Amino acid sequence: MDLKNKTTVVTGSASGIGLALATRFVQEGATVIASDRNAEMGAQKAQEIGARFVTADVGQEKDIQALIDNVLAQEGQIDLFCSNAGIAVGEGPETPDKVWDLIHRVNVMSHVWAARHLLPHMLERGEGYLLNTASAAGILTELHSAPYAVTKHAALAFAEWLAITYGDRGIKVACLCPEGVWTPMIQNAPILQQTAVTTDVLVEETLKVLRADGFLITTHDTTLKGFQTKARDYGEWLSKMRHLRKKAMALLDGGAAREGEAPRTEGHP
Ligand SMILES: NC(=O)c1ccc[n+]([C@@H]2O[C@H](COP(=O)([O-])OP(=O)(O)OC[C@H]3O[C@@H](n4cnc5c(N)ncnc54)[C@H](O)[C@@H]3O)[C@@H](O)[C@H]2O)c1
Repeated sequence: MDLKNKTTVVTGSASGIGLALATRFVQEGATVIASDRNAEMGAQKAQEIGARFVTADVGQEKDIQALIDNVLAQEGQIDLFCSNAGIAVGEGPETPDKVWDLIHRVNVMSHVWAARHLLPHMLERGEGYLLNTASAAGILTELHSAPYAVTKHAALAFAEWLAITYGDRGIKVACLCPEGVWTPMIQNAPILQQTAVTTDVLVEETLKVLRADGFLITTHDTTLKGFQTKARDYGEWLSKMRHLRKKAMALLDGGAAREGEAPRTEGHP
């Protein structure tokens, strides 16, 4: 897909990856509708980059439906919908159900609700591109947050399912699976910071895949290398991940962990 004159929507646009994607899409000549639950920051950033802003909490189906209805009413169509907003919360099985429920709504159901309300229009036109942000944690794992690992696996599974089911009917699907990217999300994850890439790198990789109408977007060679290790020998992969978790814990012991902040690291062999 060439982004010039395309109507694109980006959720989670007030910060990090969403802001970087929205900024570049405007530069590429797209009409960009930026969306975030943070109305103040979202509107300010959208104005700075030349996008229109619509407030939406992607953890609420009615907000996603209203966002899509708004854009269809004003622009007539949506060519590319980036379901990008996500959160990293919780640790192990002791994490309260209400936290599991929240992250499931934001990291998984947001993609389901977007597809539910977009597909009728896209199928009628016979075209449309869905870009869902998952994570390398959906291919490998997340070393400290089970809810993050589980929901990102689910997000990837849903994107695969959409691509298989609708790929022959004009619907394109891409899934963004980065390892560490320099955004506020990794501020308490020193192990990710060691290899984090800039949002510029991520945006370049994303545009490369979108231009080729591709599916998988990664930012680090280690993601697919880890995937290969996992496929070849699960035991070996688990052992490498245990080793990496020890390293991540040691790094945390020297910093954020002492302040009691939620650790978050995605791992790879
Ligand atoms: N930064 C990384 O290293 C990394 C790696 C892999 C995947 N990701 C994924 O990339 C996406 C963006 O993360 P980021 O690093 O830019 O984080 P970020 O925290 O910088 O930005 C997230 C944005 O999403 C918004 N948001 C959060 N919950 C929302 C909700 N319910 N409704 C609407 N907006 C909401 C926030 O207000 C914020 O503006 C997330 O899905 C994240 O899981 C990030």
